[in-house]
Amino acid sequence: MEIANTVLILVGAMIMVGNISGYMLFMEKMQDVVSSGNKKDSIWLRIGLVLLLFFFFGYLVVCLAFQSSLLTSLILFFGSIFVSVTLGLMSRLLDTAKERSVDIAEVLVGIIDARDPNLNGHSRYVKDLTVLFYQRLPRRIRFKINPISLEYAALMHDIGKLGVPESILNKPEKLNEEEWETMRQHPKIGVKLLQPLQPFDSISSWILYHHERMDGEGYYKLQGKQIPLAARLLSITDTYATITMRRAYKPPLSYEQAVEIIRSAAGKQLDQELVDIFLTIPKEELEKCIPEQIKY
Ligand SMILES: [Fe+2]
Repeated sequence: MEIANTVLILVGAMIMVGNISGYMLFMEKMQDVVSSGNKKDSIWLRIGLVLLLFFFFGYLVVCLAFQSSLLTSLILFFGSIFVSVTLGLMSRLLDTAKERSVDIAEVLVGIIDARDPNLNGHSRYVKDLTVLFYQRLPRRIRFKINPISLEYAALMHDIGKLGVPESILNKPEKLNEEEWETMRQHPKIGVKLLQPLQPFDSISSWILYHHERMDGEGYYKLQGKQIPLAARLLSITDTYATITMRRAYKPPLSYEQAVEIIRSAAGKQLDQELVDIFLTIPKEELEKCIPEQIKY
């Protein structure tokens, strides 16, 4: 009986340690997927963590200091399993919610892209390239950017083209200065469209500045590090996607040609350090991102 009691206490304590680290991961995911830094949610999540720690220490005190009965140990043991199952279910629910919302955004953005034969599949392509690029970044850069927000920003970076007339989007000839001016409004229109959605507040500046250049010759004349890090990342994946896809005015260029163009743009248009990291991604991995409708 003594041995069974001790085993229950030890295993239960180990499960509780797992529960605490699992809860901390859940907190992080919750902030990323749902709350986007909402202070109220953050307070409730912290209260949850304090209660979980309180349960853990209470568990140890009752079981060790007061030498609990087998029944008490059993109740506490199954209590820790219950917490574990609940956390697992909540985490799966959160993953499903995130996947569904990205899927819905992907479909909606795909419809917007379809208005422009030059853009068909472009947003999804940029999103897949950006996710790949993020995984390649060193930890010191990665921790500065929320990966889920980055995924949404990549998917919706050109959403403002919804406000650009189709006659400009589909024009096979070169745009005149007035038409270019309308086209240059698309980041601003995109930010306006997303304004009612509070969780996307953090990505507004990334979308607004995705056409900035390191040399200050972009849409808003921001220079170097004035451009948000995520916008500098998007600028690279957007450029790579544009080069390697078919446009009315050009055929899709090869990986080798894209590398050459991106390398020559580093330091002027694109961030040199980030370009160096991007170019370490193997060709096969980049090519896996190309959506079917862009290939031919
Ligand atoms: Fe754009």
